Amino acid sequence: MDKRPIGVLDSGVGGLSVWRELVKTLPYENTVYFADTENCPYGPKSQQEIIKIVDKVVKFLISYDVKLIIVACNTATAAAIDYLRLHYDIPFIGMEPAVKPAALNTKTKSIAVLATEGTFNGKLYLETSKKYASDVDLHIKVGDKLVEIVENDKINYPETEAHLKELMIPLVQKNIDHLVLGCTHYPFLTDALKKVLPSNITIIDPAPAVIKQTTNVLIEKDLMNNSMDNPEYKFYSSGNPEILESFVYNITGFHYKATTI
Ligand code: DGL
Repeated sequence: MDKRPIGVLDSGVGGLSVWRELVKTLPYENTVYFADTENCPYGPKSQQEIIKIVDKVVKFLISYDVKLIIVACNTATAAAIDYLRLHYDIPFIGMEPAVKPAALNTKTKSIAVLATEGTFNGKLYLETSKKYASDVDLHIKVGDKLVEIVENDKINYPETEAHLKELMIPLVQKNIDHLVLGCTHYPFLTDALKKVLPSNITIIDPAPAVIKQTTNVLIEKDLMNNSMDNPEYKFYSSGNPEILESFVYNITGFHYKATTI
C-alpha cells in the first residue's frame, strides 16, 4: 500500500485525456498533474530541447514524492523516455501510438496515425510501425495546428471543423478504417473528428491501454494505494492555469485550482 501520488505530465492539457482515464480506473490514487504550458507545443522542438524541459518537469514532480510518472505526451515519450528511465529510479509509463490494435483489426488493410512531427521522428514510432504494421498500408499525418486548437479551447469552432476536414480528406481517400490518435491532445477532438469522418472509421485513443499498463506496473511493484480515502488531485502549470482549470472542470464537474509555477 503506497499513498504517494502518481505524477502526470504533458506540454499542456492534452495529458488530461490520460489523467481522466487514470482517475476513472484507479479512483483512490492521489495525483499531481503538470501542464508545461509555457513550452507548449513540444511537437516542433528538437529532442535535446525536449529532454531538457521534460527533465525540469520530472524534477518538479519528484519534489512531490511521486511514486510513478506517466509521461502523458507522445512527443515527450518519443524524445525523452529512454533518458528518464536511465536517470531516475522511479517507474515511467510512456505513450505509444496504438498502431497494434489498428493493424490487427483493419478490414481495409489501410490505417492512419495522427501525431506531431516529434512523435513521427522518434524511434519508438518507427519500431512500433515496423513491428505491427508491416502488412498493412500505414498513412501518417502531422496534426498541424491541432494542439493549438485544443489549448485555446477552439474545439467546437466552425473553423476547426473545416480544418479537420481538410486534414482528413487525404486519409479518407486512402480508404482507412482506423485512425490512431498519436498525441494526447487529440482525444479532445474526437467528437469533432467524428463529424468529418465516415462512420466506418474507428478512432483509437490509447489512454485505456496506457492506464492498463500503469495498473500492471503498480501491482507488480506493490505501489497501489488501496486506502479508499478521497483522493487528492493537484494541478500545476508553467503558464496561464485557466485553460487547465476549465478542462479539469469539464472532466470532473469540480472546480480545482491550478497553481502557476
Ligand atoms: N500532447 C502532446 C503529445 O502527445 C504534446 C503535443 C505538443 O506539445 O506538441 O504529443
